[in-house]
Amino acid sequence: MDLSVLILAAGKGTRMRSALPKVLHTLGGRSLVRHVHDTARALAPVDLAVVHGHGAEAVREDLAEEGIRWVLQAEQRGTGHAVGLALQEAPIGDEAVVLVLYGDVPLIRPQTLGPLVEQAAAGTVAVLSVRLDDPFGYGRIVRGDGEAVLRIVEQRDAGVDEQRIDEVNTGILAVRAGTLRGLIERVGCDNSQGEYYLTDIVGLAVDDGIPVRATCVGDPEEVLGVNSRAQLARLERALQRRLAAALMDAGATLADPQRIDVRGELTVGTDVFIDVGCVFEGQVALADGVHIGPYCVVRDCAVASGAHIESHCVLEGASVGAGASVGPFARLRPGAELAESSKAGNFVEIKNAVIGEGSKVNHLSYVGDATLGKRVNVGAGTITCNYDGAYKHRTVLEDDVFIGSNTALVAPITVGRGVTVGAGSTISRDVEPDVLTLTRAEQRTLRDWQRPRKAKGK
Ligand code: UD1
Ligand code: CA
Repeated sequence: MDLSVLILAAGKGTRMRSALPKVLHTLGGRSLVRHVHDTARALAPVDLAVVHGHGAEAVREDLAEEGIRWVLQAEQRGTGHAVGLALQEAPIGDEAVVLVLYGDVPLIRPQTLGPLVEQAAAGTVAVLSVRLDDPFGYGRIVRGDGEAVLRIVEQRDAGVDEQRIDEVNTGILAVRAGTLRGLIERVGCDNSQGEYYLTDIVGLAVDDGIPVRATCVGDPEEVLGVNSRAQLARLERALQRRLAAALMDAGATLADPQRIDVRGELTVGTDVFIDVGCVFEGQVALADGVHIGPYCVVRDCAVASGAHIESHCVLEGASVGAGASVGPFARLRPGAELAESSKAGNFVEIKNAVIGEGSKVNHLSYVGDATLGKRVNVGAGTITCNYDGAYKHRTVLEDDVFIGSNTALVAPITVGRGVTVGAGSTISRDVEPDVLTLTRAEQRTLRDWQRPRKAKGK
């Protein structure tokens, strides 16, 4: 059975009060329409069309790289009109199933859509519905004797009795293409909004004796639409709860599943611990036994087994080796590579630098464009002077180097294996292995010197 998925995403989203088209607002770091797109892809359709209009260019850019059939709906004349347009050029036969999704209903899951598509393949007009405590604003599912669906009536066109119905239309439906083409043609716009309602196909199908079935989903959040920022925030929490549950299933302990934010893809090994207030962005992989302290931001990083990231660290584009230790208050920038059992301590910034196995940069340092060998000890306050105002240069510290505190390393420079650099030095020339090197002004002591004092009475 061939499947065609139509994603309706042409609307403006006035209530968002935003310059951004509604479907480009994000949940968990992905646009609403991308969530829907990714879910559609999981169903392996032969045709995937996105009906777009408002912010057309921006929407196309957001989904740029995918094989999508773009349908431009310049004027939004209703969901029925949108589906009609998308069907015109659809490369599918009458037996194919058409599934309609909304670009602003982001949390729908493939597991829920599968049965709907199967019902449609068997010749039913399959609609997804949900019961809401407050059904105001939605289309209502009108059922007759024996629960048979009769039609869908929109809020503005509903009578007093119909407004009491709490089973609402989610908008998501599946129908065979041939059937849908026949029904859509007959949809008119004689209603309070003067729009072509897709929902009118239900009443038309009933008139024709085509079976109609509305399936109620259990979890309203899965089918809630985003019309306002408040709804966006509610669905963000719902998504984060889902992601947190998946992380716990995979073997992570979350200090509080309500206080983690994943904006991208986070994979975890077993016995990972994540404390409160952490944000994960892009692609992040945490291996077995990794410990993440509170209030860390981790973007596009790989952290190997048993590594500890203490509280308040910001990591981006870094790799942290097994058993390594980072923070508290450390910043790892792109290209930071911490080898096994190495350490970057508090108020340390590392960029584009390899910190070799067992090496330590414990306090208040900047290490940029550098290669540190094994067992190197970098004293507090050490700075690599990597930038001359025009070019960046590299610092190389070979195995077992010991850098005294408050040293400036003026790159390009290589400090040979086993060298000790005296505290407070400015090192600007290469150093041969196994020596002590230092630059330091002589200490002078003045015995008859007096500290200035304020004169009395002034
Ligand atoms: C629609 C349903 C309603 C249902 C509700 C669920 C109709 C007539 N009504 O109402 O029964 O309860 O969704 O949220 O279908 N769109 C287009 N082109 C258009 C019009 C809409 O692409 O010409 C897109 C919008 O961008 C949006 C989706 O279709 O993604 C739904 O449109 P919207 O205007 O929000 O529908 P509702 O009036 O809420
Ligand atoms: Ca509308």
